This record gives sequence, C-alpha cells and structure tokens, in this order.
Amino acid sequence: MSQKSLNKVRVWDLPTRIFHWSLVACVIGLAITGTLGGSAMVWHFRFGYSVLTLLLFRLVWGLVGGRWSRFGSFIYAPQTVINYLKGRGKPEHGIGHSPIGAGSVFAMLAVLLVQVGTGLISDDEIAFAGPLTHLVSNATVGLSTNYHANIGKWLLLGLLLLHATAILFYLRRKHNLVGAMLHGDKTLVVAMPPSRDDTASRLTALLILAACAALVYWISTLAVPAF
Ligand code: HEM
Repeated sequence: MSQKSLNKVRVWDLPTRIFHWSLVACVIGLAITGTLGGSAMVWHFRFGYSVLTLLLFRLVWGLVGGRWSRFGSFIYAPQTVINYLKGRGKPEHGIGHSPIGAGSVFAMLAVLLVQVGTGLISDDEIAFAGPLTHLVSNATVGLSTNYHANIGKWLLLGLLLLHATAILFYLRRKHNLVGAMLHGDKTLVVAMPPSRDDTASRLTALLILAACAALVYWISTLAVPAF
C-alpha cells in the first residue's frame, strides 16, 4: 500500500471561526431571552443587533475573506451536487463546505437574516417594537411579527437540528468537522491552497466588523422613542 503524505491546511480563518462561535452564543441568547420575554427582551434586542452585525460581516467576508470562506468556493452547480450525492465528489469538496454542507450554510444564513430582518419590524403590542416598525404599514408589521414569533424560529430550529445531525453523522464516520472550526486546520491527503489568515487579513476583518457594527447601531437609533 502506498504511503500518502499528510498536509495540514488552514481552512477556517480566525475571523470565520470567531464569527461562527459568536453566532452560536448570540443565537442561544436570542432563544433564551425570546422565550423569557418581559424585561429579558432588552437583551433579546441586543443579541439581535449582534447577530445582524455578524451576518453583515459574514456577507462581506464571503466576498473578501479567506479562500475557503468565500462564497465562490462553495457555490456549486446542481450537477456537482448530484455527482457528490452519487459518491463522485472531488478532493476539494472535503476541504471547505461540501456541496451538501454548502446548501445548509446558505439556508441557515438566509433564515437567520430573515429572522433578524422581521425582528426589526415586529411589534409585541405591549412594550417592545423593532426599531423600523414605524417605517412600514401595520399589515406588514402584523405579518412580520407572526413570521418572527411563530414560523421563523421553528424553521431556524429545524435547520440547526439538521446542522447538529450532519456534524454527528460525520463524527461517527471518523470525520471531525468541529476541530477545524475550533483551530482552523484540516489534515488532508491532497495538497490544497490554504485560506489566508495573517495579521493583515485579521485587521481587515476587524475593520469590516466595526463598519457593520456602526451600520447596525445607526439602524437601532431609528427607533421612535417610547413616551
Ligand atoms: C446556534 C447554533 C449554530 C449556528 C447558528 C451555526 C451556524 C453555522 C454556520 C452559519 C456555519 C457556516 C460557517 C461559515 O461558513 O461561515 C456553520 C458551520 C459549522 N458549524 Fe455551526 N452553527 C451552530 C452550532 C454549531 C455547533 C453546536 C457546532 C459543533 C459543536 C457547530 C459546528 C460547525 C462546524 C463544524 C461547521 C463547519 C461545517 C463544515 O465543515 O462544512 N455549529 N455553522
């Protein structure tokens, strides 16, 4: 049997990893505060603004971030997905997001964006209203509130369960995806170009994050003060 050399490749740059684990913490915070309601809603808003900041950051990072974090590296043609499902994947499919994983990543990002977006124009008609409710009609606020409180959260929960199941499935097949999301590296039998993850790219990420946070802060100031 031939001895294949192993290559350690930086797959997830530090900004992507920090994005991921911050997102996990904030989504848990959102679920808890949303369930508690009452005065915990103050924190529900804070977590919501944080998630919006993270999502905006990830959208930009998907264009300029490390190689394997860029959307271009995990947008697959339908035929590629079919081939992958038939067991005819390519070596590079095991590095960043696979053709199947990519679908769930885009679905999670989209559902999270819609969940935060509808939160901005939701109103509990008691004490809390999203900062942009006064910019849309009452009918739109009603539809958004219904989606946000009764539909979106379950959709998100379903996708997160799928996410956890997929990770456990790979773990049972001796494929630990979590390690790479923690330390950034994968050990591969093929040599592949790494994601850029140096000081300059990390500082760029910080600047992008600061710009996204400033934009979200501005959105939060659009709320009409309650009297
Ligand atoms: C609220 C819970 C969670 C959310 C919202 C979430 C969301 C996401 C998103 C959006 C990505 C894509 C990352 C990117 O390309 O930027 C991702 C990937 C990943 N997540 Fe999560 N995640 C959650 C929980 C977890 C947990 C609990 C674990 C493990 C213990 C985990 C492990 C991973 C791994 C390993 C990947 C990379 C998958 C791959 O290699 O394709 N996630 N997650």
